[in-house]
Amino acid sequence: MADVRTNSEKVRLLIVDDEDAFRRTVAKRLMKRGIDTKQAVSGEECLEILKKDPVDVVVLDVKMPDMDGIETLHHIKKKHPKTEVIMLTGHATTQDGVDGIKTGAFDYLSKPIELEHLLGKIMQAHEKLVREEEKRKEADFRANMEQQMIATERLASLGTLAAGVAHEINNPLAIIRESTGWMKSILNKGELANMPRKADFEMALGKIEKGVERAKRITLQLLGSVKQTDSTLSEVDLKELVDETVGLLQKEAANKDVEIVQEIDPAIRTIWTDPYKLRQVLINIITNAVHATGPGGKITATLEPVDDRVALTIKDTGQGIPKEHLKKIFEPFFSTKPPGEGTGLGLFVTRSIIDKLGGEMDVESQLGQGTSFCIRLPRYPDAEGELDKS
Ligand SMILES: Nc1ncnc2c1ncn2[C@@H]1O[C@H](COP(=O)(O)OP(=O)(O)OP(=O)(O)O)[C@@H](O)[C@H]1O
Ligand SMILES: [Mg+2]
Repeated sequence: MADVRTNSEKVRLLIVDDEDAFRRTVAKRLMKRGIDTKQAVSGEECLEILKKDPVDVVVLDVKMPDMDGIETLHHIKKKHPKTEVIMLTGHATTQDGVDGIKTGAFDYLSKPIELEHLLGKIMQAHEKLVREEEKRKEADFRANMEQQMIATERLASLGTLAAGVAHEINNPLAIIRESTGWMKSILNKGELANMPRKADFEMALGKIEKGVERAKRITLQLLGSVKQTDSTLSEVDLKELVDETVGLLQKEAANKDVEIVQEIDPAIRTIWTDPYKLRQVLINIITNAVHATGPGGKITATLEPVDDRVALTIKDTGQGIPKEHLKKIFEPFFSTKPPGEGTGLGLFVTRSIIDKLGGEMDVESQLGQGTSFCIRLPRYPDAEGELDKS
């Protein structure tokens, strides 16, 4: 069923009765009172109408040929559980009304009815619907918030742990690098000129050096994302920064026949931020977009003012991100790239930088259509004149 209408709007009602004169008169009088009233002459017609166009409340006669009111009620409750039903029973046949309530009717009225009475019941049934809808929305909102909080906490503790591990790994890495350098220099000495399988040793040392470089890159990125000691705040011309970053990545994009275009609102000039960190963010996001976009694709970098902030959007026409991945892409080490190609740290670092710069980031993606990352940044640091260093 479509969302329940709130009180300020018209109640959508369907009156079902085989007695033409009665049905038409009641419908006409209800319409006059501002109720959007449809009519059906039978249970079958009622179900047909509900299938096409849901209503909030059904006023249903119990005594009808073919499908009677109780049977119709069964069907309504099964297929449209949110629709409220008021039963109209014959005079002195309250048993039908009781049966109706057992089957899920909101209430019943005995014929002959008073319009005011019916109107009161319709409004009560509608209020019940509105209350339930509000409760449902609140419950959804709560569940959503709780999930977001759990995800944020998990991310924060993962980040701290990852940074701790990165710090600890730095020392053994330095030892491996130094010892590899030392072995290389020995291999180059004249006394080992004819050492058997010297080339194999050199190749193995080269591999160790490459591995160490990669590990070093990971630790540096992680530590950079958590430690904020080197934050330098200055007045940054965003247009220049976007230009410069796009320039850095243009070649890689052109090699894949991917176009990068800029749409910059001329009202955007400078903001106070950390240009190096922001450049790291832009490089991470645009690089991801280039990787995800196939030949003939397009990446658009947009800068525009939004309230007292600046919005920077990077939109691509690439492969998109599956729904089940959307929650994970900001986690450290989540990557769908082949082993050795992606560290899975790009977006994790990006998010923690944006947090520290006092900004927000959203992502929207449609599988097979493309992805859009939107960052909103403050024009000035917060009131203390410092960026958040927590
Ligand atoms: N624009 C995008 N389109 C489609 N998928 C994306 C996009 N940006 C990120 N992703 C997905 O998010 C994952 C994580 O991105 P992230 O930048 O954190 O790591 P990575 O790109 O895999 O590795 P690295 O950044 O170290 O090269 C990617 O592997 C990819 O699956
Ligand atoms: Mg990346």
